[in-house]
Amino acid sequence: MGAPRVSPSHLLGFALAALGLCLPGTGQRSSPARVQDLVADTLPEVLPDQAPMGLEADAALIVVESDPDGAWLAIGRRLFFDPVLSSDRTVACASCHQPGHGFADPRPLSVGVEGRITLRHAPTLLNRALGKTFMWDGRAATLEEQVLQPIVNPLEMDLSLEQALTRLASDESYAAGFRRLTGGAPTEVDLSRALATFVRHLWHAGSAVDRFRSGDVGVLSPEEKAGMWIYESRGGCWRCHGGANFTDEDFHNTGIGVRDGVALPGRMGFTGEDRDRGAFKTPTLRGLTLTGPYMHDGSLASLEEVIKFYRRGGEPNPYLDENLRPLELTDQDVINLGAFLRALSRVDGK
Ligand code: HEC
Ligand code: HEC
Repeated sequence: MGAPRVSPSHLLGFALAALGLCLPGTGQRSSPARVQDLVADTLPEVLPDQAPMGLEADAALIVVESDPDGAWLAIGRRLFFDPVLSSDRTVACASCHQPGHGFADPRPLSVGVEGRITLRHAPTLLNRALGKTFMWDGRAATLEEQVLQPIVNPLEMDLSLEQALTRLASDESYAAGFRRLTGGAPTEVDLSRALATFVRHLWHAGSAVDRFRSGDVGVLSPEEKAGMWIYESRGGCWRCHGGANFTDEDFHNTGIGVRDGVALPGRMGFTGEDRDRGAFKTPTLRGLTLTGPYMHDGSLASLEEVIKFYRRGGEPNPYLDENLRPLELTDQDVINLGAFLRALSRVDGK
C-alpha cells in the first residue's frame, strides 16, 4: 500500500492507508498531539475509485455532492489539520480526532482551547459517511450540521463562525481556494461542506472479517471464529452492533456513566423523552484497535474491560436496554470475543 508501517496494532484500513493518513511515527507518539505533527504531506489529491470492501452496499447508497477534482476534499483536509479554526489557534480537529488513533482521541476526554476538558470522549470519525445522526446523543442530524459545532463549542475550539469566516477570507490561499470553487468569499455552508467532505472520506473496511465473509475462510484463526460465533449468538452483540458497519446507528442505555443507580441524561438531554435517559449512540466496531479508550466517557481502557462489562449485563439502572442481561461467558470466551473484535481492525492481509 506504500503507507509507512507503524506497529501492527496500529494498522489503518486500506482506504485510510491509501489516503496516506497513516502518518509516520503516530503509532509510537502519545497524546497530547501537537497539531503540526499531525499534518501529512503525503496525501494524494483524489481518492482511489474503490468502494471499501465489506461496505460496498451501504456506501453505494450515500448521496454526495459532486467534487470532481477533489477540490472540496483538499480544502476540508487542510482545514481539519489547521488550528486556524480555534480561538487561540492551538487546537485543530485533528488534535482530538487523531489520525494515528483512527480519528478518535487516545485520551478518555479531550482537551480544547486553554486546557478546557470536553464532556465526552471524542469518537472515531471512521465510516461516518454511513452515519444517520451525529454526536453520542444524536443531536446533529447531518455531518454538515455537525462539523460546525466543534468550532463554536466553548470547550473545544471556541471561535464564532463569523470570526472563522473572516480568518479564512483574509488568508490568501484559503480565500483563493474557495473563490475557485464558488466565485466568492467562503460562507458557513462552504466551510461545512469542505469539512464534511473530508470526514466522509475516512473509511475503515476490508478487514479480515470482511475477507472471511467473502469466502477467504482461512483468514480467521480458530479463536477469532469462535469469537464471531459468540458475537452472533449468545453474546447478542449483533442486536445493536449489526449491519455492515457493526452499528444500528440507534441509541441504547448500557449503563455506562451510571453512578449509584442513577443514569446520566444521555440522549434525553436532546429529545426531552424520559425513555431516552442514559442512552447513547451505538458506535461502530470497526477500527477498535486504534480508537480506545472506549465508551462515550472513555471509561473502559481495553476491549477485555468492555466485554467483561457486557458479561455482567451492563450497569443496572431503571432504563437499562432490554437486550442486556448477564451473559454466560467463560474467560476463554472473553478472549475469543476480543480476538474477533481485533480481527475487525486487521487489514494487513494476514
Ligand atoms: C477539543 C476536542 C475536539 C475538537 C477540537 C473537535 N472535536 Fe469532534 N468531537 C469531540 C467530542 C468530545 C465529540 C463527542 C461530543 C458529543 O457527542 O457530545 C466529537 C464528535 C464529533 C463528531 C461526531 C461523530 C459521531 O460518530 O457522531 C464529528 C463528525 C466530529 N466530532 C468532527 C469534528 C470536526 C470536523 C472538527 C473540527 C472542525 C472537530 N470534530 C473538532 C471532540 C473534538
Ligand atoms: C443494547 C445494545 C447493545 C448491545 C447488545 C451491545 N452493545 Fe456494545 N455498545 C452499545 C452502545 C449504546 C455503546 C456506547 C455506550 C456508551 O458509551 O454509553 C456500545 C459500545 C461498545 C463498544 C465501545 C466502542 C467505542 O468505540 O467506544 C464496544 C467495543 C462494544 N460496544 C462491543 C460490544 C460487544 C462485544 C457486545 C456483545 C457482547 C455488545 N457491544 C453488545 C450498544 C450495545
